[in-house]
Amino acid sequence: MADEVIRVAGLTHRFDELVAVDGVSFSVSAGEVFSFLGPNGAGKSTVINVLTTLLPMQDGEVVIAGRDLRTEPDHVREAIGIVFQEVTLDRDMTVAETLEFHGRLYGLPREERRTRIDELVALVELEAKHDTLIKYLSGGMKRRLEIARGLMTRPTVLFLDEPTIGLDPQTRARMWDYLRQVNREGTTIFLTTHYMDEADQLSNRIAIIDYGRIVAEGRPYELKNALGQDLIYLETADNARARAVLEGTPNVGAIHEKGGGLLVMVADDGTRVLPHMLDALRTENVAVTGINMKKPSMDDVFIHYTGRELRDERAENVATAVNRAGRH
Ligand SMILES: Nc1ncnc2c1ncn2[C@@H]1O[C@H](COP(=O)(O)OP(=O)(O)O)[C@@H](O)[C@H]1O
Ligand SMILES: [Mg+2]
Repeated sequence: MADEVIRVAGLTHRFDELVAVDGVSFSVSAGEVFSFLGPNGAGKSTVINVLTTLLPMQDGEVVIAGRDLRTEPDHVREAIGIVFQEVTLDRDMTVAETLEFHGRLYGLPREERRTRIDELVALVELEAKHDTLIKYLSGGMKRRLEIARGLMTRPTVLFLDEPTIGLDPQTRARMWDYLRQVNREGTTIFLTTHYMDEADQLSNRIAIIDYGRIVAEGRPYELKNALGQDLIYLETADNARARAVLEGTPNVGAIHEKGGGLLVMVADDGTRVLPHMLDALRTENVAVTGINMKKPSMDDVFIHYTGRELRDERAENVATAVNRAGRH
């Protein structure tokens, strides 16, 4: 594809015995916002670190902005901007000094540095903090400055690893606005996140990654629509029995456990399937204590493809450890 900015095929990365990234393939077109959505430990940072040359290539093919990562890493580096998961700013530099230093590091001419700094400080609304030391900035301001720094060299593609982690909801929403603006001005964006709403709201396309593998990929509405028109959430006196009963009911698809109840995917209009489900449960004497019908959300997509919720980080990590031990 002519307008392909990132092409990754069969990317695999190991840390000793652990297969952190396991045969990942995807491509990103010019002008897209492409997100990797996955839980802690899924392999998101490892992928981004390999793509941005921070980790060595082990197995697979990566082409970024027309350059092969294995043979032309320097050219790849020139074509990209990076915003890391952790804050990597020097606390004792000012906003302007940070950008100036980065511009020099990349050999931007003095005049270009000056205009670029003015443009970017305006873009992320840090004009008033131009000469303020980093250590006096809020978390959101630091993230904004990091985005500005990532854009100093006018990259073809900007990589962001969990750009809004730890920020309050309002600050996150503003960050999305900045990123949309950056994208409108022509920069392709690759980001990782474990926030469903972030992936949903910001992306043209999402890849869901779990245990180092892409388990689903598509446009947000495609991923949601693929689950059906409606989802039915049921709370019952006996979820295990309810599940067994419902599995034999016409038009009932996949069933997942969610928040103490059952999330039922149906292959028809929910208002038509629900009465049959309730009849079947009544016949088998399974009491229904709660019902909710709704359109699929990104949360539901995630549960459907990974088999679990992303809420409980602790349970998540235990599950990860167990599964890894079993698989590798
Ligand atoms: N430098 C490293 N050495 C050993 N294991 C690592 C290293 N970096 C990451 N891992 C492991 O690789 C897996 C993927 O990690 P990571 O890519 O950071 O996931 P994510 O960014 O999705 O949270 C995890 O199991 C993590 O513990
Ligand atoms: Mg990470």
